[in-house]
Amino acid sequence: MDDAIYPDPSFGAEDTALREAAAADPIGFWADRAAELEWYEPWEKVLDDTNPPFYKWFTGARTNIVHNCIDRHLSGPYKNKLALIWVGENGTDYKTYSYFSLNREVNQMANVLKAMGVGRGDKITIYLPRIPEVVFAMLACAKLGAVHSVIFAGFSADALADRIDDSESKVVITADGSWVNGGIFKLKDIVDEAIRFSPSVENVIVVKRTGHEVAMDALRDHWYHDLTALPIAKGDCPTEQMDAEDPLFILYTSGSTGKPKAILHSHGGYMVGTYTTLKYTFDIRDEDRWWCTADPGWITGHSYLVYGPLLAGATSFMFEGGPTYPYPNRWWQLIEYYGITTFYTAPTAIRSLMRFGEAWPNRHDLSSLRLLGSVGEPINPEAWHWFHRVIGKGRCPIMDTWWQTETGMFQICPTPSMPLKPGSAGKPFYGQVAEILNEAGEPVPDGEEGFLVLTKPWPGMLRTLFKDDERYVNTYWSKYPGKYLAGDSARRDADGYFWVIGRTDDVIKVSGHRLGTAEVESALVSHPAVAEAAAIGLPHEVKGNAIHAFVVLRMGYEGSPQLAEDLRKHVSVHLSPIAKPDWIDFPDKLPKTRSGKIMRRVLKARALGQDEGDLTTLEE
Ligand code: WT7
Repeated sequence: MDDAIYPDPSFGAEDTALREAAAADPIGFWADRAAELEWYEPWEKVLDDTNPPFYKWFTGARTNIVHNCIDRHLSGPYKNKLALIWVGENGTDYKTYSYFSLNREVNQMANVLKAMGVGRGDKITIYLPRIPEVVFAMLACAKLGAVHSVIFAGFSADALADRIDDSESKVVITADGSWVNGGIFKLKDIVDEAIRFSPSVENVIVVKRTGHEVAMDALRDHWYHDLTALPIAKGDCPTEQMDAEDPLFILYTSGSTGKPKAILHSHGGYMVGTYTTLKYTFDIRDEDRWWCTADPGWITGHSYLVYGPLLAGATSFMFEGGPTYPYPNRWWQLIEYYGITTFYTAPTAIRSLMRFGEAWPNRHDLSSLRLLGSVGEPINPEAWHWFHRVIGKGRCPIMDTWWQTETGMFQICPTPSMPLKPGSAGKPFYGQVAEILNEAGEPVPDGEEGFLVLTKPWPGMLRTLFKDDERYVNTYWSKYPGKYLAGDSARRDADGYFWVIGRTDDVIKVSGHRLGTAEVESALVSHPAVAEAAAIGLPHEVKGNAIHAFVVLRMGYEGSPQLAEDLRKHVSVHLSPIAKPDWIDFPDKLPKTRSGKIMRRVLKARALGQDEGDLTTLEE
């Protein structure tokens, strides 16, 4: 490969040795990585695969991810190292936490939760802006052995209510509001609406962020700053010694059908997986300032903004705002000012920033950067080259990482000595094996498209779907027994590089966010004018995919631009602004199979002017 771009050729020998060792003995490889971390009790077995697909990792071991994120650093040279640098949307609010002071904050939050009766196995919903308290809250839950469920603070009251009730959360941690492009998004109001009828919520903790007036229920709601002023908040809160397989968190994500799925991850395996992938893929160094732009409301924020960097003893940078407010140089300005070395973001953000032109980044000195990263959707070569040339000045490799909420950690990504191919996520990570299969489960020849599967269990894998083992087995392990079905289509080339194409199910990636057609449709159908709805994703220059909805109206309603706008707003308010359809059409009826299933495939083909394919199952 003549035009090969190498992350770090000097690392070649080590990279090759690790790759070969992991391929020969994946269990030994993971045991060695786990041994780089601390455990209260060692494991009896690295992998227990006696009851697939319910794999267990590091069985018999006792640990707590917080012990490795914080506690172990306190007695070593990292005690005074910056763990977290945070900058507010207005650019003037600024906070830093060393590992020492992060520990104090987490203890404080844990003490408060403990005083509310929170302990092992309790579920806590976190609905916070990108502020340091979201990190404290996640770690405080983990410290106590409680299970956090972080909900992206852009979800509506309906979506929040579903998730709080499904998880049976005892406590909700929120803020008065969040700053969004200079305006206030009223989080507390949304929580109030969401938990009006919630049977499980006993307490709501409210962090003051925007300072606007909010209603407080005298018995249920508590300002966080009032709680931390109480004597109970002071002092160390012991880190619970957990079983490696004890649940760490659940995270809701969209699936093909019905309600969002609650992906369950555990302390031990997730800890080893996120630590290892971050450390080796991004070659984390002591002097790095690592910036992952994801929100903690998504898995990328969990694994690579909060847990992974702290496990690696890195300095993690967190910015409350978005890339274009007040001007489209915001991110570049922050990279320059804070000396960011490693920058991990999403293709959709790159594409949107490209449109503003090179003059914005060119105003800034970006020479601190040494590595770039991409995640969330395929990166088109045009965006790849822009990112590489304009932001990385042709010096910084781009680590394109393919993984999922379910996988917990990178699965297909380059490692330091691997030549990069723009648009390909490289090869399976150390010890992993991926295959591309046809419908019958046979591997397809190189270059051909098929279903992407993972054939070996990995430590960071989901353990099940919370409260739904059956759906876990059916969704991921039943199409090809013994193999994990990712839900993506992909190709592998002759060099063994993987090219991910997109979802094969009814999941749409909109600006890297994962949405189910079923969720968008049920939000539409909750509007009085709507009888039936179908949503599909169509290619979009910036967002990757945009949602197009087909709505059949009830008697007495007529389609109009005004109604389309009302419906778009309705989805925004009842699900999330990120789910707002770009375009709404009002057909008289929807194409369906004789058994009544909407044929989204046909709608998509029609919209793209393509062949509608096999229509034999179409009704009439
Ligand atoms: C889906 C998972 C875990 C990262 C954040 C998204 C798509 C993710 C890539 C990539 C091509 C990618 C896939 C996958 N995806 N990363 N580097 N190249 N596609 O997690 O929300 O669970 O979505 O995102 O379609 O299945 P998620």
